[in-house]
Amino acid sequence: MAKIRVGVFGGARGFTMINQLLARDDAVLTAVCDKYRPLLDRVGKKAEELGQKVALCESFDEFMEQEMDAVVLANYANEHVPYAVRLLDSGRHVMSEVLTCSNMAEAVELIEAVERTGLVYTYAENYCYTPARQEMRRRYLAGDIGELLYAEGEYIHDCSSIWPQITYGERNHWRNLMSSTFYNTHSLGPLLKMTGLRPVSVSGFETPLSPHMLELGACFGSGGMEIVTLNNGAIVKSLHGDLKHAAHSRYYLSGTRGGLLDPNKDCMVCAYTEGPGENCRGKKEEYKAEHPIAEAGQTGHGGGDYYTVHFFIRSILGDEEAKKMAVNVYEAVDMCTPGILGYKSVLEGNRSYRVPDLRRPEERDAWRNDRACTFPDIAGDQLLPNRIDSISVPDSTYERVKQLWIDKKPG
Ligand SMILES: NC(=O)c1ccc[n+]([C@@H]2O[C@H](COP(=O)([O-])OP(=O)(O)OC[C@H]3O[C@@H](n4cnc5c(N)ncnc54)[C@H](O)[C@@H]3O)[C@@H](O)[C@H]2O)c1
Repeated sequence: MAKIRVGVFGGARGFTMINQLLARDDAVLTAVCDKYRPLLDRVGKKAEELGQKVALCESFDEFMEQEMDAVVLANYANEHVPYAVRLLDSGRHVMSEVLTCSNMAEAVELIEAVERTGLVYTYAENYCYTPARQEMRRRYLAGDIGELLYAEGEYIHDCSSIWPQITYGERNHWRNLMSSTFYNTHSLGPLLKMTGLRPVSVSGFETPLSPHMLELGACFGSGGMEIVTLNNGAIVKSLHGDLKHAAHSRYYLSGTRGGLLDPNKDCMVCAYTEGPGENCRGKKEEYKAEHPIAEAGQTGHGGGDYYTVHFFIRSILGDEEAKKMAVNVYEAVDMCTPGILGYKSVLEGNRSYRVPDLRRPEERDAWRNDRACTFPDIAGDQLLPNRIDSISVPDSTYERVKQLWIDKKPG
């Protein structure tokens, strides 16, 4: 069978996918694009060691000319949609890194591009796929804890030590400009994938900006939280951000007949289930979940990085199980829009926003022109402040962070 020819746009985080593509036997890495030459050189060296030929492109236009059936987007998190639309319209399947889109207008554009072209789009929400979270999905969908009433998802990642290496001292890097609720799908996404439910309303909240992030040039609330109501009436607390923490991430489902917990420890799952007539006398279990595909255990983010690429390639090849496991465009938009609308809610005293179901064409026009976000080049005249009480950060902060990046030192 012919291998799927794949290109990767963005060679920083993209190097993870590059490594996987170089190792697969159903895909071949044909091109990589990054404007930062050292990242291309790293790919060239690796490909040479493996005896593979990869086109290394500094410009996206040159990249577009390469032989690619599919492209992985690992470019700036706020610039995925314009490139995804361009690639889909050129006949390429797309896998997008997080996040799905920067504003509501882009959510509509992305869905319509996928529908128009009929090509595969998958969203690389790797936090859905650790063994424990896949096991929680399996058990929830099997009905083990009944109907969901409440869920929690947390992605608490204090990135301050790596901030210089991931923002390069650039004032306008998306990580400095984003809102507190922008990077929300690592916490909410796994819960939606586990349950198959979708959001119908959201209220957003943010913590104060912590001094440890301000001194690195970030100017958004250090913790973002969305309280989301799902289409079965269940409520969800989704918490994320650069807070100090004792546990990196944690996921919890509470249903009418039990609960499931991923404490993010050694692939453990904690379960409590009640059978008929067992009110408060159900069964407690604590066990280690296994990887459905053993080789995934060698990859990052608890193996999650393997499955995103695997389900993308297998979906292109027509594998129906992979299509179910991958995050499709509607699910990707459902994971992301509560963060976008959640930030409007933060700015309006936490008022509740209805989350549209953009599967329905009749719901799209209301959002088609809503470009509101905290990224000036994308929002135009609909720019939102990225902190309610706007603060100004002196140039000297970014100069210091840039020097830390050059010296490869932590923040
Ligand atoms: N899922 C995860 O666990 C995870 C972890 C880290 C990053 N990410 C995602 O990966 C993506 C990339 O993040 P990152 O950490 O690599 O940092 P980044 O966003 O700073 O890197 C983007 C890379 O793309 C290149 N690039 C961007 N626009 C370009 C253009 N027009 N032409 C050529 N090159 C261009 C940049 O030079 C840079 O190397 C983001 O979407 C981020 O959210 C996901």
